[in-house]
Amino acid sequence: MKTFFILGRNPELSRAEIIEFLRARNQEHTEILFEENILVIETNDKVKFNIQEFGGTMWLGKINFEGNNENLAEYLNKTEIIPADKFSYATFGNQDPEILKDKFKERKKKAMIKHGGKQIKFQNQEKQGLPSAEFYIFYHKHKGVVYLGTSTQNYDNTEVKKRDMKKPARRESLAISPRLSKILINISGAKPGNLLLDPFCGIGGILQEALIKNINVHGIDKDKQATIGAEQNLKWLTSEYKINSKYTIQNIDSRKAPDLQFAAIATETPLGKILRQKPSEKEAKQIIQNFEAYIIPILARIKKSKKPDAKIAITFPAIREHHVNAQKIAEKTGLKIYMKPILESRKDQFISRDILVLQ
Ligand SMILES: C[S@@+](CC[C@H](N)C(=O)[O-])C[C@H]1O[C@@H](n2cnc3c(N)ncnc32)[C@H](O)[C@@H]1O
Repeated sequence: MKTFFILGRNPELSRAEIIEFLRARNQEHTEILFEENILVIETNDKVKFNIQEFGGTMWLGKINFEGNNENLAEYLNKTEIIPADKFSYATFGNQDPEILKDKFKERKKKAMIKHGGKQIKFQNQEKQGLPSAEFYIFYHKHKGVVYLGTSTQNYDNTEVKKRDMKKPARRESLAISPRLSKILINISGAKPGNLLLDPFCGIGGILQEALIKNINVHGIDKDKQATIGAEQNLKWLTSEYKINSKYTIQNIDSRKAPDLQFAAIATETPLGKILRQKPSEKEAKQIIQNFEAYIIPILARIKKSKKPDAKIAITFPAIREHHVNAQKIAEKTGLKIYMKPILESRKDQFISRDILVLQ
């Protein structure tokens, strides 16, 4: 079975999220293509994707046809790809939808193609139209093969937003988005039933998304107020969403993380004090150096408290061309780089994040 994924603002990171999700579950998979924000993966027919598990995918669906254009015409003659007589649709992919238009006409369907609309803003500043339509058709050619499929799931932000906005304790300035929380959890390889550690848990943004995924969690933060907030939020979540997975929160320094043989670690590190203006080159260099000195003893401790093969999905600060030396961190802590840093940036932020996985 081949599945297409339309990825959101950071396609490289979103792709890693899907691949690591499959790897963690020992699901065999082959990447058929990855172009711009389009990913096609082949898996066993039994694999069932639920788009809400992911933070970085906007639409997904099964590829129903693959072949050349002649075969496609035949396929469209025989197959009703949209089971309605009157509908709006939009297409993803690099192929001209003319043939689809003709076929809908032949079948006397009132099919209205939609373009433009809102926009997906990629972090490299490129933009893509995000039309609002009832059906989304994937129509793409890669290495001479034409692929066609219809989207069966699209990412529903309403529930995620609701639980983010309604939780009792909020901390705007340090908040991690549910999108990034899900991505960090997935690239950490955490699975339902595992015990996941967030050593900088704050008010529990990542812990919350992990609990929803039936993962048990342990959060640590040295800020008392933050841990009180995390307790409140997780208590609220557990009752609102009838969650069975367990949580524990500790108000300690991460350098004292308990040895609970964690199966996965997902965390957003403090990126230093909030900057009101763009740091100079010298300041940027200093921030990165300070971070390196600060994170080494914490990671060395976490290495001892996790299962040997457990992965650490973590954010490192990045300022323009100043990046944390991940290789140095790995050497000093005895960890290895499992996934190389992928930059996650926003135009309006002075400090970006490198997202990587250590093991
Ligand atoms: C970027 S925030 C994490 C935000 C979190 N993802 C949330 O949803 O609230 C980083 C957190 O790390 C905590 N912190 C910083 N240094 C620490 C240390 N050595 N041990 C434990 N917590 C630490 C801070 O108190 C802060 O709450």
